[in-house]
Amino acid sequence: MKKNTKILDPSQVDVAAEIIRKGGIVAFPTETVYGLGADALNDKAIKKVFKAKKRPLDNPVIVHISSLEQLKSLAERIPHKARILADKFWPGPLTIIVRKKKEVPYSVTAGLNSVAIRMPSNEIARELIERSGTPIAAPSANLSGKPSPTHHSHAIEDLKGRADAIIKGGETEIGLESTVIDMTRTIPTILRPGKITPRMIQNQIGFVSVYNKKVKKDSKVPSPGMKYRHYSPKAQVILVRYSQNQKARIRELASSLKKEGKKIIVLSRQDIRIKGIKRILLGDSILDMSRKVFRYFREADKEGYDTILIEGTMETGLGLALMNRLKRAASIVTK
Ligand code: TXA
Ligand code: MG
Repeated sequence: MKKNTKILDPSQVDVAAEIIRKGGIVAFPTETVYGLGADALNDKAIKKVFKAKKRPLDNPVIVHISSLEQLKSLAERIPHKARILADKFWPGPLTIIVRKKKEVPYSVTAGLNSVAIRMPSNEIARELIERSGTPIAAPSANLSGKPSPTHHSHAIEDLKGRADAIIKGGETEIGLESTVIDMTRTIPTILRPGKITPRMIQNQIGFVSVYNKKVKKDSKVPSPGMKYRHYSPKAQVILVRYSQNQKARIRELASSLKKEGKKIIVLSRQDIRIKGIKRILLGDSILDMSRKVFRYFREADKEGYDTILIEGTMETGLGLALMNRLKRAASIVTK
């Protein structure tokens, strides 16, 4: 059944809040990527989110809050170190996994006894949660398997006719999803790298481990989301790792792919000009690159490119998060 999706201005957050209170689903901006939200305590509403996104039911979603009171209403126990992280990094792009209270439906946690919680800093998101009067469960507002939406136009592309409303919040600030840290383990473990880096977290709570194994489909993973292919455009992505002769390597690959008759686009940070090949400069900082990469994945698909050649970065700081997403999108990773 096709829904009549309301496209709302940020000034109409009250309309969106009303929809959430009545059990509907709304796409809204956060500082990372757009989320598709529903009342986190309403099992039926949450199921609508999974259906609209075509998300596998065994992949849990993040609950978004606007106050520490709400954290207490969702978490069975708040470990001391989790509290330190919340105080330091919230509101912001950090998701903290804790033991859930029984009030949190298993549809949110995909049957797990833990729940992922985050307080976003985006003003529209905060206002939506406050006005709804309930925590909001929200995965990214893309169709499952597509790159996360970093602009309302992406959410509209994927969810018009499927969501009850979409709030027009413009471009997101960070462009990569939040850092996810599991605080239910003896040693806190970063399950997904993001803008809040391992170093930033260690400076607050000491040693943490970073989950960084290659994951095979169907294998047991700590975060169910890890086993799904993600962030992938239709085009084949070839990721060229950071190295001394990276620029030359990209040139060489681009030319030989072109000879094979491929329609290629090069996404890079360095100025790499190759005759007859379309190139997009992603800006010169890793933050610029992170902000824009999902957008250009989508645009490359729209323009009918069949191969995306992308420049990798060093895997430190935000580069760790960026490379994590690029490796998942890529079918070939090469030096
Ligand atoms: O920045 C973000 O985190 C965005 C915005 C909308 O907040 N949300 C987002 O949600 O990226 P999603 O559903 O696309 O990713 C959530 C990730 C998934 O990999 C999921 O498996 C993991 O968090 N996750 C959620 N609850 C979990 C839990 N209880 N235990 C382990 N992993 C969990
Ligand atoms: Mg997602």
